[in-house]
Amino acid sequence: MCGIVAYVGPKDAAPILLEGLQRLEYRGYDSAGVVVSNKGLKMRKVKGRVADLAAVVPARFKGGLGIGHTRWATHGAPSDVNAHPHLSTDERIAVVHNGIIENADELRAKLEADGAVFLSETDTEVLSHLIARTVVEADSLEEAVRAALKRIVGTYGIAVIDAQRPGEVVVARNGSPIVLGIGEKEMFAASDVAALVRYTRQVVHLEDGELAVLKADGFSTFAGDARPTAKEPLTVDWDAGHYDTGGYEHYLLKEISEQPETVARTLRGRLDDRFHIAHLGGLNMDARETRSFRRVKIIGCGSAYYSGQIGAQLIEELARIPADAEPASEFRYRSPVVEPDTLYVAISQSGETYDTLAAVQELKRKGGRVLGIVNTVGSAIARECDGGVYLHAGPEVSVASTKAFTSTAVAFALLALHLGRVRDLSPADGRRICEGLRRLPGQIKEILALEPQIEELARKYADSPSMMFVGRVRGYPVAREGAQKLKEISYVHAEAYPASELKHGPLALIGPEMPTVAIVPDDELLDKNLTTLGEIRARGGRVLMVGHRTADPKLADDCVVVPRNETELDPILLSIPLQLLAYHAAVALGRDVDKPRNLAKSVTVE
Ligand code: AGP
Repeated sequence: MCGIVAYVGPKDAAPILLEGLQRLEYRGYDSAGVVVSNKGLKMRKVKGRVADLAAVVPARFKGGLGIGHTRWATHGAPSDVNAHPHLSTDERIAVVHNGIIENADELRAKLEADGAVFLSETDTEVLSHLIARTVVEADSLEEAVRAALKRIVGTYGIAVIDAQRPGEVVVARNGSPIVLGIGEKEMFAASDVAALVRYTRQVVHLEDGELAVLKADGFSTFAGDARPTAKEPLTVDWDAGHYDTGGYEHYLLKEISEQPETVARTLRGRLDDRFHIAHLGGLNMDARETRSFRRVKIIGCGSAYYSGQIGAQLIEELARIPADAEPASEFRYRSPVVEPDTLYVAISQSGETYDTLAAVQELKRKGGRVLGIVNTVGSAIARECDGGVYLHAGPEVSVASTKAFTSTAVAFALLALHLGRVRDLSPADGRRICEGLRRLPGQIKEILALEPQIEELARKYADSPSMMFVGRVRGYPVAREGAQKLKEISYVHAEAYPASELKHGPLALIGPEMPTVAIVPDDELLDKNLTTLGEIRARGGRVLMVGHRTADPKLADDCVVVPRNETELDPILLSIPLQLLAYHAAVALGRDVDKPRNLAKSVTVE
């Protein structure tokens, strides 16, 4: 999952491409490159960050046409040679690509036999050689690109330029996102609006199989069979400022700190205090249809999946419908039995995660009814679903998801309230949940004020070789997400377990070197959780308890106390301190907090 950018217009492309790549770096950051067309192709590419690339792009890199790329390596280790763009042997064609070409080896062998000289180990390079082979005869670059793509098996978001056609860029999409930016006498294309909102907020999303030709004075789009397609521009809600750190040291801390506002935005206009229900205008279901579902199946990846587990509990508690969550790829490949009276809910912050998108497409092929809970407006998963809920949490730039995780859980509370109130959830319970939801932003503010205490605890535990996270029922998905956050940004090994499962194995790991973070809400399982703390302490384990009250020092070394809300909504608040704990542990360990190693923000490959 890489980031690609393209520009054609009166300005010099290089600075625009570099700034765009900077804004897309959360998509992949192991190598980068740009090429501009100016009496031939001029290219620079390096192993490293976009800043390293900017350092080697000379000011004289003139020309109003160019493409750029920031990489998350899949085929060929990060290196100057494997970085994109890739040129054809005659240096006429340049290609940047986001995705995976599954039949690259087979095509490469044929092209090498036909005299092509490959410089890199990448799958992408086959495209530049394939296009170069047809561009001479072809009437247009677009025709040559289409012919090449017909031979490709796999996913792609690509941008292509031809040294002999200095006025146009061809882009195409199949599985990986491409958005066009419509400017004044200039055109942009990118993997994400983040790279172009500085210049325009008028955008067009390409669908799978679509191809577009961009020229300074406009664009045209075509379906796979070359039929022209009509596109309605969308206006992006967010401006470039939303993609800045806003004075925070890291995007992650900014996004954690934004949560009182982002949760308020997710709730805005969706609570009805007269009937104590939730209004979710985007579901595209009337009450009769909403009542017809006998089961809810939630799918997503990583943190989206964990917020889905909180969602499943909320739906079972408030709507009394059987519900569960499953990793999207597991769901997709186990050939699930798709039932007409099951409501499927796909969760994705980016709306581009390939495993989730492919699972939604599989469900649609089997006639499933799929709702999306998505943050990125106009994204592929949002467009593929039958209806859904947008989070309105704003752009999430840091690779580790925080505000989107919290807003997803809030969106599930709204969905559960909606499903419940069209069934047997009483107006009194509806009121209780509505009021609880309205208290969340203020209570999150209270928890953020605990940052100094949590920072100190993070420093205390950061050098642990490994940490255990435990919770029961509502606390378990919170523990899973807490372990996920610590792992992905601090690289400290962490495991999450249902507290009840400890004595069935993991308790063997417990000792002074393995501290435990225990999620202990004041609910009907409080005593059981306190017993578990006793079992851990009895084996010399250190305990950091996150709950609604302090615990006896015999049971916990440290306690983080968060305000109480409604029992069903407490998991949303209990997750916040774990975000801060992971953040400060990563800072204490000197990690690259916003761009953790080996990861990327939007996983657009399988
Ligand atoms: C979370 O911090 C990670 N970035 C990752 O697990 C993420 O949640 C997962 O890749 C799903 O992404 P999505 O919500 O954009 O689909």
